[in-house]
Amino acid sequence: MGRRRAATPASGVTASLCIALLSTTTSALWGQKSSEIAVSDEENPPSSSSSSSFNNYHQVNTEPQAGQNVNLLGQPTYGVDVSFPIHHIPISDNYAWLPHNVDPANNPTPPQYVGMPVQYLGNRRAEYDRMIKACEDHYGGSSTFSVCKTTEEDRVEMSIRQPSSMQNYTELGFKKIRAPREVWERVKKFWEENKDRKYWKSENWPRGNTYTNHWEAPTYMVSVEDTSLRGAGNNLKRHIWDAARDTIQEWTGEELTDCSLYGIRVYTEGSVLATHVDRMPLVSSAILNVDQDVDEPWPIEVYGHDGNAYNITMEPGDMVLYESHSLLHGRPFPLKGRFYANIFIHFEPTGHSLRHEAHEAALQASRGKQDNHPHGGHEAEMSDGLPPYIKRGTIEEERWKRSHPGKKKSSAEKDSFTTGSTPAHVAAQTGDVEQLNSVIETMAHLLDAKDVNGWTPLHEGARGGHESVVRLLVNKGASINERNTEGATPLYWSIKQNGVDHPVSQFLMELGALNIGPDL
Ligand SMILES: *[C@@H]1O[C@H](CO)[C@@H](O)[C@H](O)[C@H]1NC(C)=O
Ligand SMILES: *[C@@H]1O[C@H](CO)[C@@H](O)[C@H](O)[C@H]1NC(C)=O
Repeated sequence: MGRRRAATPASGVTASLCIALLSTTTSALWGQKSSEIAVSDEENPPSSSSSSSFNNYHQVNTEPQAGQNVNLLGQPTYGVDVSFPIHHIPISDNYAWLPHNVDPANNPTPPQYVGMPVQYLGNRRAEYDRMIKACEDHYGGSSTFSVCKTTEEDRVEMSIRQPSSMQNYTELGFKKIRAPREVWERVKKFWEENKDRKYWKSENWPRGNTYTNHWEAPTYMVSVEDTSLRGAGNNLKRHIWDAARDTIQEWTGEELTDCSLYGIRVYTEGSVLATHVDRMPLVSSAILNVDQDVDEPWPIEVYGHDGNAYNITMEPGDMVLYESHSLLHGRPFPLKGRFYANIFIHFEPTGHSLRHEAHEAALQASRGKQDNHPHGGHEAEMSDGLPPYIKRGTIEEERWKRSHPGKKKSSAEKDSFTTGSTPAHVAAQTGDVEQLNSVIETMAHLLDAKDVNGWTPLHEGARGGHESVVRLLVNKGASINERNTEGATPLYWSIKQNGVDHPVSQFLMELGALNIGPDL
């Protein structure tokens, strides 16, 4: 199992936007074959229009190649592993011009290409290999262990596993619109007041994190949480959330609760964002283009629920709504220009379907009588608290249940649905070591139990600076590097909350615990 090594304590602003990194690995292959052909370079003129019409997602002037499909936007499209490694590492080198693709009737497919998507974009593999090499030059990497490759394997593993277990709420999974006026005005004002480079804070990415190629193209954050900035703070966050919620609810038909909102990320020249799905509970999301200085549009590439790749380009004030838990999304083509600033707004569905309610109301009106559906449309009323966006009978249901043992939900227990805290969490949080001891004695399975935000009792004890709690949990065998839904470890929280020199931080560091902050 590829374990990340302890990172040096993070300081300053940490990477925000919760994106997943798992600690499991796949046996993905790291072939080094590299070939041959040059990428044909048909670039699209920057579009000056900001209309949200269907054909303005990305101006394309390329013709599909022989055998290449066209997506619903008329773009010549392709599958996964073509622009970037998504389900396998490395990128496909199953070029369209190879004999078995040109004339399959007379050329059997060589075994190494069976099942490999056709590569239409040229030698993307060489570009990717260069990126990973640069990561290893920065973070170190040997033939036996490479933190960069390990995080890549985690990303790919999650991209395969998570989407198929997810409940989706829209047909295609994404939609481009103009941002609601209220959202755009607030964000724009905040940006205008703080866009001077002196306010950009370097994002401090966990060691070996490959979601962005930050080692060669640094990213910055203008955080709405940084109260030293004009207009920042909870008030602004609340306004942005409130203003965005209706729009996204209307799109998904689901009632939503706020999930995460960090600030404006600024990408710089050469930036790449690895294609990924977000860690739950970041489910229903929006990206808003705030500002850019680019030589050509920098598309976000998504894989629609129809399996096709789509490019979406955005002008300032454009917003892309997307189902970030199931929709693969990334920016695999390096940014050409000075900077690109965008903000991410994430929500979580509550399980209350607005469509259902409207539908039921209409039905009842037409029938002129009550039927036996309760109001509120909890059609998937669950006895075990499984979040509504995880499909039953899937691998994610299994995983969720493992990390939420013994969780039962009755209507009277709604609160435990929102926190998922166990008695072990409560005792750890309050520093009640005796209570914690007796809880663990009787309910050993709560040792590493996760609440709805992925916090374990050790996270709680570490954040709270309760040394005896942390020692007890560790002695009982608690896993020291669990990552919460933001991706953060207990040590990260201890350092953030109590400082590096605090006994809890020191104790965890002596154990070799990892200091990993929120991913993205
Ligand atoms: C949801 O979307 C993902 C990605 O497009 C897909 O793999 C999955 O099968 C979809 N879920 C359902 C229930 O159709
Ligand atoms: C997306 O844009 C890139 C870079 O311009 C291009 O190579 C690729 O073919 C486009 N993909 C789609 C689906 O339009």
